[in-house]
Amino acid sequence: MIYIDEEKLLFHLQTEETSYIIRVLESKHLGLVYYGEILDINNDYHHLEVKHNIEVGNQVIYDDQDKTFNLNLAFLEMPTFGKGDFREPMLHIRLADGSRITDFKYLEHKIIEKPIFKEMPETKAYMAHIETLVITLKDEVNNILVDLHYSVFPKSNTISRRAIIKNISKKSIVLEKALSMNLDIHNDDYFLTTFDGAWIRERMINSRKLEQGILKIDSKKGVSSSDHNPFIVLSKDKTNEEYGKCIGLGLIYSGSYETIIEKSPYDILRVQMGINSFDFFWELKPKENFITPEVVLSYSIKGLNNLSQNFHSLIKNHIIKPDFLNKERPVLFNNWEATMFDFTQGKLLKLAKIAKELGIELFVLDDGWFGKRDDDTKGLGDWFVNKNKLPLGIKKLAEKINKIGLDFGIWVEPEMVNVDSDLYRSHPDWCIKHPKIKPSFGRNQLILDFSKKAVREYIINVLSELIDSANIKYIKWDMNRNFSDLFSSDLNHKEQGKLLHLYQLGLYEVLDTLTSKYSDILFESCASGGNRFDMGMLYYMPQVWTSDNTDGYTRQLIQYGTSYLYPQSVMGAHVSDAPSAQVVRKTPIETRFNISAFGLLGYELDVTHLTKFEKKVIKNQIEFYKEHRDLLQFGQFYRLKNPYETNNMYLAVTSKDKKECILSIFKTLEQPNSGFESIPMYMLDKNYQYHVVNRKQYMNLKKFGYLVKHALPIKFNPNGLLFHSLSNNYLYEIEKFEAIISGDKLVNNGFIPKQNFIGTGINEEVRLMGDFGSRMYYFKAVEDENERSN
Ligand code: DGJ
Repeated sequence: MIYIDEEKLLFHLQTEETSYIIRVLESKHLGLVYYGEILDINNDYHHLEVKHNIEVGNQVIYDDQDKTFNLNLAFLEMPTFGKGDFREPMLHIRLADGSRITDFKYLEHKIIEKPIFKEMPETKAYMAHIETLVITLKDEVNNILVDLHYSVFPKSNTISRRAIIKNISKKSIVLEKALSMNLDIHNDDYFLTTFDGAWIRERMINSRKLEQGILKIDSKKGVSSSDHNPFIVLSKDKTNEEYGKCIGLGLIYSGSYETIIEKSPYDILRVQMGINSFDFFWELKPKENFITPEVVLSYSIKGLNNLSQNFHSLIKNHIIKPDFLNKERPVLFNNWEATMFDFTQGKLLKLAKIAKELGIELFVLDDGWFGKRDDDTKGLGDWFVNKNKLPLGIKKLAEKINKIGLDFGIWVEPEMVNVDSDLYRSHPDWCIKHPKIKPSFGRNQLILDFSKKAVREYIINVLSELIDSANIKYIKWDMNRNFSDLFSSDLNHKEQGKLLHLYQLGLYEVLDTLTSKYSDILFESCASGGNRFDMGMLYYMPQVWTSDNTDGYTRQLIQYGTSYLYPQSVMGAHVSDAPSAQVVRKTPIETRFNISAFGLLGYELDVTHLTKFEKKVIKNQIEFYKEHRDLLQFGQFYRLKNPYETNNMYLAVTSKDKKECILSIFKTLEQPNSGFESIPMYMLDKNYQYHVVNRKQYMNLKKFGYLVKHALPIKFNPNGLLFHSLSNNYLYEIEKFEAIISGDKLVNNGFIPKQNFIGTGINEEVRLMGDFGSRMYYFKAVEDENERSN
């Protein structure tokens, strides 16, 4: 809800649990009064504002009518530079006469239904009624307007913000910095958490205490990047998953961006987000507007899980296309890690047949099916089948895959081109590079210039032809390099600073066209794994390939970090081979599943090499996943133990009514003679009784090595053929857990699994997890009185 005190020009934006209050100051600038836990709309909040009563030394006084007021100490909603605020401006404009002095003051306001801006990804009301407050500020001298948009998402406890700059003057101006929002809050000894990394190491959690000065977190790569996800969390010391104050801010954008955090010597914390101002300049001609991407903000006093759940709810209900909101995603098989570029139709069909036997539903043909694509040096751009590998073409292949009983999906990387391709030979001017400079390459490829209309049209047509040519149910949209050699032959010298943003707008236009035209197709975005994992991409494609790293342990860290902003229903998560191709680590196959099951499950390994043991295990996994798919994909997500800080990770999902829950516990290294663990289950309902069982998991006897002599009644040579064959065929089931446990015990006391292995022997009461071991438990509220415990 948005409440306005028209007399005081005070605006109170209320979600179910938070209040955001802004006001027009005496100077007519727009200031922040409060952001935090929900407040009553009827109270007077002037006491929450700070204002000096006497002139502060060595400050620039804004107006000598009021010597107590200076912009440098004010809590501003849209600061600029030039009138005494020496902190980072949100907007910096070069005016026609070369000056950069702007001063925006309140002009008017209105409340509207959330408007739709076609050109960019954004939050959408979809089925809900979402109010937007638009406050217009004006620079009188230069005739520039800025509309500040505030949309309120009550159920997600989130507000979104963006600025729209309108040049109503008769002269061109140049935007040198045009961020989406500014937030000035009291310094509260906040910690800043960012989600940083690199290829195969995305979204690792980093926290540090904020000190005075300016911190910039950004991407200059032309993609939001795996270096720093466009999302931050500010939290009080000791805030944890369950308790404490925190604020999250995320940008809905997929290109170069910046987040600026400035702690001033006056203990005001300034936070800004938007398009990266580095190397950006945008000429805004008379009557032109510039729309900044949206930022979403959420506040929680109930810890980090609650903050994440707010964002998860926003992404599910207001960012991804509603058709995919609760649409269960298929268990897929992807041939990349199995074959890379080296496949034939026969090989693919062989993989597909086994995949079908295992319970898989969708077969995805990855890179290498087109042009002369036998390795990554050639073929990109030629979206026509490679007849040497697939002589019957895509249509026939899809039919054969369908006949096996699987849906068919295909990989494309439409934004790229290899110099060794027919596309490049016909249109060398279609890529981003300077005519006089030898371009630098990334993965042997150049980037097509999506700021050009001809390029966009070509890509839309060629992909439409491909999609229309066969029964395609899924598309993986990949993107495998960062930007360099920034120059577009279509732009003049005044426009080159626009290129990266124009590229984004062009890409968004292509995505909008294709995903609307083929709205039944499931699109998954990918950029060397998670190099462009952002809400911008999610707006068009409802899931993302989380990382090229499928190692069972690193995946825990990656998915844990990713979950701070993104729900599990958008994270592609595959079981691949062990040792893993990325770190050569061996993790148990059950652990690889247990982590992938907290995402959108797929298998990406050479299934023709699977042992009987592995096949049976995978079949069981997929059966379990399908049975609980709705809960696993769309349940409320909880982080219960942090693998960055401890030797364990606990994750859980619960149904809305709390009647069902799946908990997974992961151990990094086995600890000798350790005690019982108590796993926090505060999210369950105290009034229910829960029937708790563990998922049937199996251990390969080989794990025991020579110890098998002690474990089994019959003596085997652990290196012998007989044992080899036994371990490949025999399913050694782990300890069974089954109990009825009351909700209040679980909520107050936690869940206590069976005792750990302590080196003294093993029986069905002992839980031997081993290094990188894990377990999964299913909790179901007991409906039947007879089943209840006392
Ligand atoms: C990078 C992706 O992240 C991988 O999954 C795979 O599709 C390769 N590209 C193919 O080139």
